[in-house]
Amino acid sequence: MNNSQPGASDLSGGVGRDPKLLRSWRWFGPDDLRSFGHRSRLKGMGFDDVDYRDRPIIGLLNTWSDLNTCHSHFRERAQELRRGILQAGGFPVEVPVMSLGEMLMKPTTMLYRNLLAMETEEVLRCHPLDAAVLMGGCDKTVPAMIMGAISADVPVIFLPAGPMLKARWKNETLGSGSDAWKYWAERCAGNLCDSDWNDIENCIARSAGTCMTMGTASTMACIAETLGFTLPGASSIPAVVAEHCRLAVATGRRAVEIAWENLRPSQLVTAQSIDNAITTLLTIGGSTNAIVHVLAMARRAGVPLTLDRFDELSEQVPVLADLRPSGRFLMEDFHHAGGLSALLLRLKDRLNLDCLTISGCTLGKQLEGSEVLNDEIIRTRDNPLWPTGGTCVLRGNLAPDGCVLKTVAAEKRLLTHRGPALVFDNYAQLKAQINSPDLPVTADTVLILRSAGPLGAPGFPEWGMLPIPQKLLAAGVRDMVRISDARMSGTSYGTCILHVSPESHLGGPLALVVTGDEIELNVPERRLSWLVSDEEVARRRAAYQPPAVRFDRGYQQMFSRHVTQANEGCDFDFLHGKSPGAEPDIF
Ligand code: FES
Repeated sequence: MNNSQPGASDLSGGVGRDPKLLRSWRWFGPDDLRSFGHRSRLKGMGFDDVDYRDRPIIGLLNTWSDLNTCHSHFRERAQELRRGILQAGGFPVEVPVMSLGEMLMKPTTMLYRNLLAMETEEVLRCHPLDAAVLMGGCDKTVPAMIMGAISADVPVIFLPAGPMLKARWKNETLGSGSDAWKYWAERCAGNLCDSDWNDIENCIARSAGTCMTMGTASTMACIAETLGFTLPGASSIPAVVAEHCRLAVATGRRAVEIAWENLRPSQLVTAQSIDNAITTLLTIGGSTNAIVHVLAMARRAGVPLTLDRFDELSEQVPVLADLRPSGRFLMEDFHHAGGLSALLLRLKDRLNLDCLTISGCTLGKQLEGSEVLNDEIIRTRDNPLWPTGGTCVLRGNLAPDGCVLKTVAAEKRLLTHRGPALVFDNYAQLKAQINSPDLPVTADTVLILRSAGPLGAPGFPEWGMLPIPQKLLAAGVRDMVRISDARMSGTSYGTCILHVSPESHLGGPLALVVTGDEIELNVPERRLSWLVSDEEVARRRAAYQPPAVRFDRGYQQMFSRHVTQANEGCDFDFLHGKSPGAEPDIF
């Protein structure tokens, strides 16, 4: 960050501005009993009028938690945000919101993404906030908070947690997630001793911050930056370097300005900026999870979006970022190579440059002055990591509503493949049987997992990178065709066909496959075929027993009744679109 960054220049506070235009004036300005109560209670907390009257009140929606390993530096960042807010004449208030730490929550944080989105929306609506800083980073926190902010349509700016520093083990550079999968496979194959495995455990997570590969967290941070929710460069700054502290201070300053400007998410999220977000997802070789999240965010903003748009753009956009799990490098390298702005500069002709950003300028203006500093990490257009179709949408009689494959992270030989299915009814069965010496499996087998979708698991867990059976690992096999209605971690890789819709729990075709059925994958033709006759499918359909309802209370019941399918973004059906008003106005 430098002093020309947005948020660094205007330190004039509210001088010359009309405080009656601030949203918080409706709480503190009127001469009535209710406002008296609001003011007197702030005074009871030790604040005088001069602290908050006629100043933008800026919420810090903080997802810090001792149980969120990726956000452990957020208490310090909150202090830096406060510094920036005070510098610019605002009044900072910290508001804790639900923390979704990917590593420690079961069964999956995806079960709770919509809960955090609801909380964000309601916290923004019901409090006297003129603007807010959304402090997130670990996977679902990013889409959840942005979804809520889109619906509340109160000015917000996003502060990404930033990626962890690169890890080292012996002479290897380690990336969290991706290398955990890789070395676990080696351990299962008998190639890694206990001591080495223990050493990797000790060093693979080197600092605070999010996974340092182009996993879901980094993908969503890049998408947030492209949509204009962050200051430029924010998506790749490592979590624990001084630059990240300065980013927080600058973000705080800018938060005060967007309050005065009333710069709202509805001005950022448009059909054009959503296209930019998808282009970013494709060129960074980002997480397949982002497809679900972008669908949900677009629908909150009233932008009609289907999987078809992802596939259309996929045919046009090359993968230029050589980052794990698809490529070689890590987020720290990406940052030093110029970061997202430099990458997007290489795709200027494919972007809608007129889209507004939180800086107050257009995306095109924001990219000016960016520079690629390393052509190995950010490839040129004539030397891409993958030409086009790095992530693709497949259809066929096994996935009538679509499924996705991250082609760039798959073994190329498997992109056209035919083999017999080996079906696991659920994850428990998979876990119990996958390493059995008697498992009827060869390298050509197509592994299938069902009951792993939004409703089936429930919560749509990251089980989609089905483990390679131990006996095949020992024989040197490292990738197979795998199909499920699950998601997979953004740090995962392999020929994993994901998000099969409709899911098996709803009686989608995946529910009717039996071991031995022939499956054909044809990525060039975007086809996933289940080679069983219509008569046989009808016979199995007639005998099919739908699963029993499992949840009769609480949040899980609400989730089960209202979550939509993967191809629709897995939002709750009653949350599409915006809140009815800026705040509840019944008092
Ligand atoms: Fe938090 Fe990967 S576990 S970003």
